[in-house]
Amino acid sequence: MPSTSESVLSLAPVVPVVVLDDVAHAVPLARALVAGGLPVIELTLRTPVALEALAAIASEVPEITVGAGTVLTPRHVDQAVSAGAEFLVSPGATPDLLRAMGASGVPFLPGTATVSEVMAVLEAGVTEMKFFPAEASGGAAYLKSIASPVPTARFCPTGGITAATAPSYLALPNVGCVGGSWLTPADALADKDWDRVRRLAAEAAAL
Ligand code: 3PG
Repeated sequence: MPSTSESVLSLAPVVPVVVLDDVAHAVPLARALVAGGLPVIELTLRTPVALEALAAIASEVPEITVGAGTVLTPRHVDQAVSAGAEFLVSPGATPDLLRAMGASGVPFLPGTATVSEVMAVLEAGVTEMKFFPAEASGGAAYLKSIASPVPTARFCPTGGITAATAPSYLALPNVGCVGGSWLTPADALADKDWDRVRRLAAEAAAL
């Protein structure tokens, strides 16, 4: 388990962001990511099976670091950590959520999209954060522009990023990793095409 939120940014160049509808897909999917060289997964709390899937991965695939995404409330924080989440990711940040994440005992990436939001997260003592929705909020050019005015902030940009655009983010000094769902396309999951996921993970691991 990463001991700081900074280490979440250092686990892999790409954090696979996954929306899972079928709990039976959780373990084979996690194993395919590991086989491709990406030992990290962010499971979004957007489906009824998300917490069960998280628990299954945490207990059956110990070689992967499993986190919870779309953490919106202090209740989500408690549920995710109880299910075995080793890190937490949120699309935004409120004072209550920051407090709950800070008390959770696991590393976390609050979401930001503006300089004022970045400053509010820094003010709370957190230097590692998600930049979301990355492409719609100005993309790599935006992050490059704020590197100098807010130099202590480091980001995992997520939202609309692809294998083609990821390198422009990863080249920036204030970016530790990117997040994206392109490695786990819905049709690959529906077809249980774990070999395709493994190949996409291997390509991403090499970025
Ligand atoms: C999300 O929360 O959905 C992530 O940011 C992933 O975004 P993407 O599906 O555009 O990669």
